[in-house]
Amino acid sequence: MDAWNIRDFEPEDLEAVVRMDSSSTTTNQSPLFALSDVVGSLLNRHPAVVAVTDGRIVGTAVGRIDEDRAWVMRISLDPGWRKRGLGSALLSQLEHRLLAKGVRRVTALLPDGETGAAALTNSGFAARAGVTYYEKVETVSPQSVEVLALLGGGVPPAGLWRQVAGMAREKSLIERKIVLPLSQPELAADHGVAAPRAVVLFGPPGTGKTTFARAIASRLGWPFVELFPSRLASNGNGLAAGLGHAFTAMDELEHVVVFIDEVEEVAAQRHPGSPSVGVVNELLKSIVGFRERAGRLLVCATNSVRALDDAFLRHGRFDYVLPIGAPDAEARHALWERYLGNEKVDVSGLVDATEGYTPADVAHAARTVAQATFERSVDSGGRCHADTQDYLNVIDKVRPTLTPEMVRAFDEDIATHART
Ligand SMILES: Nc1ncnc2c1ncn2[C@@H]1O[C@H](COP(=O)(O)OP(=O)(O)O)[C@@H](O)[C@H]1O
Ligand SMILES: [Mg+2]
Repeated sequence: MDAWNIRDFEPEDLEAVVRMDSSSTTTNQSPLFALSDVVGSLLNRHPAVVAVTDGRIVGTAVGRIDEDRAWVMRISLDPGWRKRGLGSALLSQLEHRLLAKGVRRVTALLPDGETGAAALTNSGFAARAGVTYYEKVETVSPQSVEVLALLGGGVPPAGLWRQVAGMAREKSLIERKIVLPLSQPELAADHGVAAPRAVVLFGPPGTGKTTFARAIASRLGWPFVELFPSRLASNGNGLAAGLGHAFTAMDELEHVVVFIDEVEEVAAQRHPGSPSVGVVNELLKSIVGFRERAGRLLVCATNSVRALDDAFLRHGRFDYVLPIGAPDAEARHALWERYLGNEKVDVSGLVDATEGYTPADVAHAARTVAQATFERSVDSGGRCHADTQDYLNVIDKVRPTLTPEMVRAFDEDIATHART
């Protein structure tokens, strides 16, 4: 049995240990500690042992100490040395070294059935049932942080997607066609589904286009960068150069959702000789480059899709051109609830009375009632409350942003430009 000799890891063993690491696994799961973490522990001289036979390394156990507890980072075995007690022998030697350093509790985390599982069980480690391993891989690398800061971007808070109320049709479309292929690229590719790289959201002002763009980034956990044409233009060499630079800088980011609001201002219909030609051309060129890399999404928003240059919307540049219309009843319900506080009001009545209202209209009506009620409280010296009728009276006087003409034009735009 003792055909091996177990000793402390030495730096010159590193190459052999790394080489054995990939052949040792018995599952197709990735290890809980990456090889780079294991190497980090070894280089920092945390306790680790190797088994040697005929001058060759055939097994290793790597620990990492944190105060009085330690992790077993890795137990790896040469495939020819499985099931011979070597794993247990390595583990027992590693445990001695950990105990000598004052460790009281040793923990290991392995995919089911991975090399080392039998050794742990045989060495008295108890498997904890009912434990789920949670993992979040941050999508922003340390190098990206600088680029992001330069571009004024950042990772939006989690949960924005959930906060987009109502809009079930739009949400489901964006979820299925945009978010899922981007968040599960391998599975999508396996089905021949190409992840989208660029989308246009169009619709009247205040319908939630910006909200959706940020929510997509939040849902993916990707950083969000908004490009402001006015800011790009003020950087010295004009808007076209500014756009080019911004897109080049974003090549450094592993993941990013880029947002250009009111894109019709940079991508308006070109006329021969007009100064916008260079800008549109630069943007079109940038989009082509942008599309070549995975892990990124460009979202352009516009209130006026018909003003966009024809070449801009041509196939191959944008995967989807999605209409975002006025908030539906459920979205208005959520908006009203946000503003009503604890006033006792028939919310459904307000929802029905505000069809065609944008969120800004709802906010304006709510603010008007709040101000009037506040003044009444001041005048009367008591705490007044608004009732449903107070709201309905104000709603009666607030003209909805969306006029019948705008709704008609939006329907036309959907027929002509939407690509879902
Ligand atoms: N579905 C929604 N649920 C809740 N709030 C919304 C929704 N859509 C828009 N809003 C709110 O309405 C306001 C205007 O939305 P915004 O995304 O800026 O519109 P747009 O970009 O289309 O002009 C924002 O304050 C946003 O929080
Ligand atoms: Mg907007």
